[in-house]
Amino acid sequence: MELNLLTFLYLIASITFIVGLKMLSHPATARNGNRVAAIGMTLAILGTIFLYEEDGARLGNYVWIFGGILIGTITGTLAAKRVKMTAMPEMVSLFNGMGGACAALISLVEFDHLAHMDPMMAGVLLMSAGGASAVKGFLLIIVLGLIIGSVSFAGSIIAWGKLNGSIKDFSFKGQHIFNILLLAVIVVLAVYLIVFLPANAVLIFYTIFFLSLLYGIFFVFPIGGADMPVVISLLNSFTGVAAACGGFLYDNKVMLTGGILVGAAGTLLTILMCKAMNRSLTNVLIGSFGGSSVGVSSAGAVGTHKEISLSDTAVLMSYASKVYIVPGYGLAVAQAQHACHELEKLLTSKGVDVKYAIHPVAGRMPGHMNVLLAEADVSYEKLLEMEQANEEFSTTDVVLILGANDVVNPAAKSDPASPIYGMPILDVELAKHVIVNKRSMKPGYAGIENELFFRPKTSMLFGDAKKVLQDLVAEIKNL
Ligand code: TAP
Repeated sequence: MELNLLTFLYLIASITFIVGLKMLSHPATARNGNRVAAIGMTLAILGTIFLYEEDGARLGNYVWIFGGILIGTITGTLAAKRVKMTAMPEMVSLFNGMGGACAALISLVEFDHLAHMDPMMAGVLLMSAGGASAVKGFLLIIVLGLIIGSVSFAGSIIAWGKLNGSIKDFSFKGQHIFNILLLAVIVVLAVYLIVFLPANAVLIFYTIFFLSLLYGIFFVFPIGGADMPVVISLLNSFTGVAAACGGFLYDNKVMLTGGILVGAAGTLLTILMCKAMNRSLTNVLIGSFGGSSVGVSSAGAVGTHKEISLSDTAVLMSYASKVYIVPGYGLAVAQAQHACHELEKLLTSKGVDVKYAIHPVAGRMPGHMNVLLAEADVSYEKLLEMEQANEEFSTTDVVLILGANDVVNPAAKSDPASPIYGMPILDVELAKHVIVNKRSMKPGYAGIENELFFRPKTSMLFGDAKKVLQDLVAEIKNL
C-alpha cells in the first residue's frame, strides 16, 4: 500500500518537474514554475524519507537526515537571498558542483557496499545465472556516476573560483593532449574494472575517482574565464546524467526523471548559448575566448567618437516618439535596473513609446537581462526579443544602449576576422540616433573594439549606468 503511495508521489513529482520546466520558459510564469517543481521535489524527498522500505525497514537515521536538510536549507536560502545578479553564474556553478559531489558520493558509498559484501553472498551471486552480468551492470552505473559526478564537481569548483577571481586562468603547452590522455586512462581503467572485476578493484576504483577529479580541474582550467557560463551549463548537464545514474542504482524513478531532465536541459542550453554566440562547443572548450582582458582591435574600428551631454540626451529622448533601450552586462554591474525602469515610466508618461531590445546573450547568463528587468518590475510585454526588435529599429528615433557592447557590434556582420563574426546582433544602427552609455572606450567581453561607437549616428554618454540614468531622469523632470 505504502509502496504504491510512494510510486504515486514519485509520479506526481516527475510531472511537477516537467510542468515546472515548461513554466520556466516564460518570465511571467517562471517563479511559479520554480515553486511547482520545488513542491514536487519536497514530496519526493519526504516520501522517500518516510515511506521507502528496504527488507521491511524504513530509512531511520532521522537526526542525520534532517540535520543535513536543515544545514543545506539555511545555507542555500541565505546564499540565494544575498547573491548579487552579477554573481549568479558563480552561485549556480557552486550549487551544481554540490550536485556532482552528491552523485560521486553515492557511487563511493555503493561501491563500498559492493566491495564489503559478504564473500559467501558475493560468490553465490557471481555463480548464479546472470549474476555476474548483474554485478557488472551495477558496477557500470556506479563507475559512470563516479566519473561524471567527480568531473562535474571539480570542474564546477574551478569555474566558481574563476568567476569570483579566486582562481586564475592556468594552462600549459599541450594541455589539451594531456586532457585527452587523462580521459583515455580513466576510460581504460573503468573498462578493465567492470569487465574483469580484478582482485585490486578497490585500488582501481579510487584511482579512477582521483583521476576524474584531476580531469575536471584540467578540463576547466584552460577555458577562457568569460566562457564559464557555457561551461557551467555543460557541467550542469553532466550532473544531471550523474544523478540519473543514482536513479538507476536505487531503481528510483523520480531521481531518474529529474536527472534526465537536468541532463537534457543543460545540453540544450549549452547548444543554444553556443548558437547565440555563433561558436562551436569545441571553440568554447579549447578557444580560450574572452580569457584575456587585452583589447583586440577589429578591422575598421578607427576614428573619433563624439560625446553627448545629459541635457541633450534628455531633450532628444523626451521629444522622441519611439525609444528602444538595449540593456547589457554593464547595466547589471551598475545595478541600474530600477533607475532604468524609472526612466521608462517617465518617458511613457510623456507619451513616448518605450521598449527594451533583449539580445539572447546580453549579460553573462541565459535570461540575465529578463531577470534583471523583472526585478525592477518592468512589464514583460515591453521586452522584445532580438528578431522582433530588429524589425522595429528602422522606425525608432532613439536607441539608448546601457552597458552593452558586443551584442551591438557591427563587426559581427562585417568583419570575417572578428572573433564574434557571425554572431547575430541588434541592428541598432537602423535607428535615427544611437546613444551609448558606458564608462570608457574599453572593450566588452569579447575584448574587441566596437565600430559602432565611431559611426556618425552614434553619441557616447559616459558614466556609471545608474548615476547617468538617475541624472537623466532628473534632467527630463526639469525640462
Ligand atoms: P559586454 O560586451 O561584456 O559589454 C558590457 C559593457 O558594459 C562593457 O563594454 C563596459 O564598458 C560596460 N560597463 C561595465 N560596467 C558598467 C557600468 N557600471 N556602467 C555602464 N557601463 C558599464 O556585454 P554585452 O553587450 O551584454 O554582451 C555580452 C557578452 O557576454 C557577449 O559577448 C556574449 O557572447 C557573452 N556571454 C554571454 C553569455 C550569456 S548566456 N548571456 C554567456 C557567456 C558569454 P566600460 O568598462 O567602458 O564601462
